[in-house]
Amino acid sequence: MEWKRVSVIGAGQMGSGIAQVAAQAGYQVVLLDTTEEQVQAGVKRIADLLARNVEKGKLSAEEREGILDRIATTTQLEEAAQEADLVIEAVVEKLEVKAEIFRRLDQCCPNHTILASNTSSLPITEIAAATKRPEQVIGMHFMNPVPVMKLVEVIRGLATSEDVFRLVVAAAERMGKTPVEVNDYPGFVSNRILMPMINEAIYAVYEGVATPEAIDQVMKLGMNHPMGPLTLADFIGLDTCLYIMETLHEGFGDSKYRPCPLLRKYVKAGWLGRKSGRGFYQYS
Ligand code: NAI
Repeated sequence: MEWKRVSVIGAGQMGSGIAQVAAQAGYQVVLLDTTEEQVQAGVKRIADLLARNVEKGKLSAEEREGILDRIATTTQLEEAAQEADLVIEAVVEKLEVKAEIFRRLDQCCPNHTILASNTSSLPITEIAAATKRPEQVIGMHFMNPVPVMKLVEVIRGLATSEDVFRLVVAAAERMGKTPVEVNDYPGFVSNRILMPMINEAIYAVYEGVATPEAIDQVMKLGMNHPMGPLTLADFIGLDTCLYIMETLHEGFGDSKYRPCPLLRKYVKAGWLGRKSGRGFYQYS
């Protein structure tokens, strides 16, 4: 059976990007968030990005319209669920929130629907356990910004079936991505390696080793990283960085993953990075 409909739950920076690449791949997309305002903010992000691509000559104005026409919006989970072949969840990185969404999706979606999570670090096996179809639950971890980055980590939960894995790999490829198979352990591969580096950079600020600018310069010029770790942390979202460190800390029970107190302080202050206008740097 050929998939036609993809629903995306959460219209933030990741969800809007996933909706865009799915619509570009020709899927009929339903994009959901909790309020109309949040959904429209997600659609505006997509519309603006596509407009820039038209200006750059990468896309025609008709193609842009076609992509936007394929994206419907809703704030009702039942509506997003009812005809979906594949649902990709991209809400806040909290297990209890994701588990509740998967429990409800399981009740509202047709039997054949595959439920994927874009979680950065949470156990797919545990998210799957909230449903009665754990063999149809899988991790589909896109990178930020979704329209640009090629990688999708495809994470098998303990019960994920071989057929589901193959179908999701094919869908990721249709969206122009390169899927890489990973097993279900905290942080998978990407964030198990990336996030401790970011956390260590935050410790270096906390201990007064150097300024954020200096730390980013060292890693860019010295290690050839395209972006310094603190610029990257602001880009990812400091709340998301904290939740991932907490997942690593709890999941492995090893103090080497303890989140830096300065990261906690920034998140408590509402300094979430680029999306809130302030993190290690300020954004206008
Ligand atoms: P974000 O804060 O930009 O967006 C999250 C969206 O989810 C918000 O629009 C929020 O209103 C919505 N939401 C929250 N609870 C909801 C609910 N119960 N039902 C429907 N919508 C709800 O966060 P972002 O960065 O898009 O992250 C989303 C997920 O993607 C997280 O699991 C994160 O770990 C993961 N991720 C993030 C990456 C990043 O670089 N920021 C990279 C890869 C994965």
